[in-house]
Amino acid sequence: MLRRLSLVNFKNIAVASPEFSVGLNCFVGENGAGKTNVLDALHYLSMGRSAFGMTDRQSVRHGEEFFVVEGEYLLDEGRSLGVTCSFSASAGKRVKADSKEYERLSDHVGVVPMVMVSPADAFLVSDAADERRRWLNAFISGLDRSYLQTLVRYNAVLAERNRLLKSLPAADSTELLDVLDLQLVAHGDQIHRRRAEIIEQMQPLVARYYAHLSDDREEVEMSHRSEVALAPREKDITNGFTTSGVHRDDIVMRIGGHPLRRYGSQGQQKSFLIALKLAQLVIVSEATGEKPILLLDDLFDKLDTGRVERLLSLVVGQTVAAGQIFISDCNRARLEDVLQRGGREYKLFELRGGELISEIL
Ligand SMILES: Nc1ncnc2c1ncn2[C@@H]1O[C@H](COP(=O)(O)OP(=O)(O)O)[C@@H](O)[C@H]1O
Ligand SMILES: [Mg+2]
Repeated sequence: MLRRLSLVNFKNIAVASPEFSVGLNCFVGENGAGKTNVLDALHYLSMGRSAFGMTDRQSVRHGEEFFVVEGEYLLDEGRSLGVTCSFSASAGKRVKADSKEYERLSDHVGVVPMVMVSPADAFLVSDAADERRRWLNAFISGLDRSYLQTLVRYNAVLAERNRLLKSLPAADSTELLDVLDLQLVAHGDQIHRRRAEIIEQMQPLVARYYAHLSDDREEVEMSHRSEVALAPREKDITNGFTTSGVHRDDIVMRIGGHPLRRYGSQGQQKSFLIALKLAQLVIVSEATGEKPILLLDDLFDKLDTGRVERLLSLVVGQTVAAGQIFISDCNRARLEDVLQRGGREYKLFELRGGELISEIL
C-alpha cells in the first residue's frame, strides 16, 4: 500500500503531500482540478511513466524546470519502500527505490504494481486490435521479462522480412526469406503460447466479475484469436508485407454471443473493461506476491447505481479482494454515498485548481 505521497511541480500540482488510508482514497473536484493528475503520479511511481502518453517534459508543471514524485510504500511482505521518480531537462528521468537508482526502468516495473481503469482505456474494448495487443504485451511483459525479449526479436525479424518483401524480386532472397521465416515462426510460437495462456487464465475471471457487475443478467466471453502460422509466401510477396503472424492477433470479446465492440452499450463496455482489469489485478497479484494498487478514474460515469455498488462490493469484498484503492469522481455527493455504503476505511480529498485542499473525514 501507498502510505504517503509527495508531489512537487507535477502537472498542475505545485506541492502536495497527502497521507493515505489503507482502504479507499477518493479525490473529488471539478473538471480540470487535478484528480487524474494525482492518479497519473501514482502511475509514474509504479511504471516510471505517464498513463496517458504524456512525455516527462509535459508532466513538468508549466513554467517549472523539474518534477519530483515520491511515494512511501508498505509492501505486503511487511517492509517499507521509498520510491522516487524525478525528471528535469538537464538530469533526465531518474527512478529510485530506497534512494538507489535503477539501471533500467524495466527492473522497477512490478515492484509496486498497480492496475488503473480510466476513460482513456475505452479503446481496449471498442477500438482496433493493435491497442489490445499493446495492452496485452505490456501486461505479459510486466510478468515475464523473457516475453518482452522475444517480442523485440520477433518485431526485428518482422521488419526485416517486410523490407525484403518490398524489395523483391532480388537475387538470392529466397534463402534469406527461409531463414527469416524460421525465426519468425519460432518467436511467434512462444509469443502465441504465452498470450493464449494468459487469456485462458483471464477468461473465467472476466466472466465471473462481469456476471457480478451485471447482477447475472448478462454473459460475456473472451478468447484469443491468433494467426500464429505464416501465410503462403506467394501471398506475402504479392502484398509486399507479412500478412499473417502473431502481430495480427486479437482478443475477441463477446456479450451474449455477439461482438462487444459493436453490440455492447457504453455501460456494458465499461463493465467489461472493469472485469478485464480486475482479472489483470488478480493475475498480477498472484504472480508478484504484491497486491496491486487499484486506480479507478472517473469510473462512475455511465454506470448505473446498481453497477457502481456491485463494483465496490467486488473490490472491497472477498471476490477480488483488491488492496488499496484510489477513486476519482467529480460528483461529491455520489462519492460520499458510495463510500458510506462501502463499509471500508476511507479518506476523501478535495482538489481545486491543482491544490489538494483538504482531507475530509
Ligand atoms: N504540465 C502541466 N502544467 C500545468 N498544468 C497542467 C500540466 N499538465 C496538465 N495540466 C492541467 O491539469 C488540468 C487537468 O487536470 P486533470 O487531473 O486531468 O483534471 P481532472 O480533475 O478533471 O481529472 C488541466 O487544467 C491542465 O491544463
Ligand atoms: Mg480526470
